[in-house]
Amino acid sequence: MIYMLDTANLAAIKKAYDLYPLSGVTTNPTIISKENKGFIEILQDIRNIIGEDIMLHAQVLGTTAEEMIEEAKYLKEKIGKNIYVKVPVTQQGIKAIKILKKQDFKITATAIFTAQQALMAGVSGADFVAPYVNRIDNISGNGVEVVKNIIDQIKVYNLDTKVLAASFKNVQQVHEVSKIGVHSITVNPEIMDKMLEHPLTDWSVNEFIKDWKKVYGQSSNTIISEV
Ligand code: E4P
Repeated sequence: MIYMLDTANLAAIKKAYDLYPLSGVTTNPTIISKENKGFIEILQDIRNIIGEDIMLHAQVLGTTAEEMIEEAKYLKEKIGKNIYVKVPVTQQGIKAIKILKKQDFKITATAIFTAQQALMAGVSGADFVAPYVNRIDNISGNGVEVVKNIIDQIKVYNLDTKVLAASFKNVQQVHEVSKIGVHSITVNPEIMDKMLEHPLTDWSVNEFIKDWKKVYGQSSNTIISEV
């Protein structure tokens, strides 16, 4: 599983980078606009936190392939090579993906709601395809089923594309796509934290400490006897 964080909030990124096995940070124009700072400044700040080796995904806003390609070049110039350019799977987006792949860009095809959109993006050269699980569920669709169909198609057609499941509103949705072998997920900071939360885990840890201190003394906060 490749874990990514879906935010541009620097404090949240710092925390997740410190605590979790984070492989990437994903953004979109809505996420960026919440930070109320310059676009490139935000991306550079994120890059400074996560370093060069962690993936950074940023989306283009143009609606023609030419505009998207210009924006992709701008992103690469400003942020460097390990930028994944997020391109929506419109007709112009697919055209842009084909052209950008020939120029060695890393691409995440986004705004995916059907398996056929994902398949065409994969065949066009997208490195990741990002289906929006919760947004599909919200319109009486089945987000997990769409993710499963995409995973199956990638196998059938032997593509190198990875599924980056996105748009989650709860941990159960993440669990359902994990069970079917999704390659990667991107979740907001709240869901990332919640994936570990369990009252019995906290209770158990506290009980261990309490039992330990009964025998080894109230100030004993470690199993290391020399301390
Ligand atoms: C990722 O590519 C999407 O931009 C993101 O996960 C959408 O999430 P939302 O549906 O919670 O806005």
